[in-house]
Amino acid sequence: MFTSWRCRPTSALGAVFHTFKTTGFRNASSRHSDEYIRRFIEENTEVVGGQSLTPEIRLRLFTPNCRFWKERPELWPFSDPYWAIYWPGGKLSRGRYLLDNPQECRGKAVLDLGSGCGASSIVAKACGAEYVTANDIDAVAGLVTTMNSELNYQEPPVCLADDLINTDPKSFDLMLLGDMFYDETLATSLHAWLDLCIKTHGTKVLIGDPGRAAFEAHTIHRHLQHLAQYELPESVQKENYGLTYSSVWRYCPKL
Ligand SMILES: C[S@@+](CC[C@H](N)C(=O)[O-])C[C@H]1O[C@@H](n2cnc3c(N)ncnc32)[C@H](O)[C@@H]1O
Repeated sequence: MFTSWRCRPTSALGAVFHTFKTTGFRNASSRHSDEYIRRFIEENTEVVGGQSLTPEIRLRLFTPNCRFWKERPELWPFSDPYWAIYWPGGKLSRGRYLLDNPQECRGKAVLDLGSGCGASSIVAKACGAEYVTANDIDAVAGLVTTMNSELNYQEPPVCLADDLINTDPKSFDLMLLGDMFYDETLATSLHAWLDLCIKTHGTKVLIGDPGRAAFEAHTIHRHLQHLAQYELPESVQKENYGLTYSSVWRYCPKL
């Protein structure tokens, strides 16, 4: 997945994930109990909080102190851990925007699509969302979302591992998308489905993205309202070659 991005993560992170991509260790999570996965995640992630752009929440993520930052990826027993990265679009800019503008979530039914480790779901709850669903096709990401919710003294959101794109849209007031436009095929199917969600339920769609090529070049970009921009912390810039800012957009097509 990383290879199609205009700006790949740093050598350490990029190498890890490029190899993850090519080893094909997928869906191994079904072979392990939740208890085993929890223990493995606790041992192989670090709690990140204060030094980030969103110090209000704490998350279990990969950092240079973690074994799998450098370890051979074939030893990772689950699906590729995309949830474990401090992504600039979702965790960082969209998270900061929501924390600064809690009215976007207050009292709303929220869908966090491609929720990863649950950062946006946790922020949405902290901002007073009435109901939050975290959706990620990686079942381990759902378990990590539960662990991260507990870390933030929250009830976990509903976690769904089904692929919702191209299904009948459910009634959500707000949909959150962070770093989801990394691939042209995914971007195109997402675009069509977002139109359907907006047409059917009037769902408001907020997107966080640091300006990746697949997003900037996509036709969806013609129908965006720019809401906020954040400078990426130095460590995040280092992990994302060439990216210095990340923005939050509202997708508002004329339908
Ligand atoms: C780049 S990560 C971003 C994670 C999160 N939004 C964030 O900002 O930290 C993309 C995530 O989308 C998930 N994903 C990819 N295709 C998906 C789909 N069709 N439906 C739901 N999640 C999907 C991946 O498993 C991965 O966790």
